[in-house]
Amino acid sequence: MADSQSIETRRKLTVNVRNVTKTFGAGESRVFALKEANFDAREGEMLLIVGPSGCGKTTLLSVIAGTLKFDSGEIDVFDCSLSALNAAQITEFRRKNIGFIFQQFHLIPTLSCVENVSVPLLINGVNRRVAEEKAFGLLRQVGMDNKARERPGNLSGGQQQRIAIARALVHDPRMLICDEPTSALDRENGAKTMEILCTVARQPGRTVVVVTHDNRIFQYADRMAEMEDGRVQRVHENPSHFKTGLP
Ligand SMILES: Nc1ncnc2c1ncn2[C@@H]1O[C@H](COP(=O)(O)OP(=O)(O)OP(=O)(O)O)[C@@H](O)[C@H]1O
Ligand SMILES: [Mg+2]
Repeated sequence: MADSQSIETRRKLTVNVRNVTKTFGAGESRVFALKEANFDAREGEMLLIVGPSGCGKTTLLSVIAGTLKFDSGEIDVFDCSLSALNAAQITEFRRKNIGFIFQQFHLIPTLSCVENVSVPLLINGVNRRVAEEKAFGLLRQVGMDNKARERPGNLSGGQQQRIAIARALVHDPRMLICDEPTSALDRENGAKTMEILCTVARQPGRTVVVVTHDNRIFQYADRMAEMEDGRVQRVHENPSHFKTGLP
């Protein structure tokens, strides 16, 4: 009988990043945010990315999601080579396949919470009534349906984060990319959020990639990639034993 590790390695690759470099600026102020970074994620897994501030975590998420162009290397997401797509094709690819929870939430201040959560569906051509019904369902899941008609500016950081989580999930993306999704949440809401994200990761054909500093959530991960200085330096299988931080 196959052990869990060999099942793990047989899972289909959904993200394959090879020797990717991304720089910002030019000349003396040029910063290497990614330095020939390699990384992969597999179907059905909850993968964490950890590492010190400035090591390139958000940059890595952004190039995978196609929101940021990279300088060199190759990225395949769901067997699609991102460098072969033009800007319009990348936008189309992203809106169908990717849900993104940003470090800074990026909620639209002039829209109510339920309208914010509906946006990915409206962009995909779903009619407003159906979109809002689905959005209400997601708000219920994250315990925010009582704030559906409020504007995000009237909510706490943790409440805004839960709206951002609902918005990232509403169009059933194949890949969910999350930048510090529990940073503004208390223990109870952090645990609730991770349980929602794990449920998503276990659905067929899904992948969830989470950047975090929060060692309370290590227990939820299948694997954990440790970044340093623009690269993934180590990958830990079953990182639940790092409950109190990295060794
Ligand atoms: N738009 C930008 N312009 C210039 N430099 C940038 C830009 N975005 C990121 N950088 C630089 O690239 C490096 C990696 O940044 P990144 O945001 O990926 O780090 P991070 O690991 O997500 O950090 P944190 O944990 O603080 O969010 C840093 O040195 C940062 O200053
Ligand atoms: Mg970051």
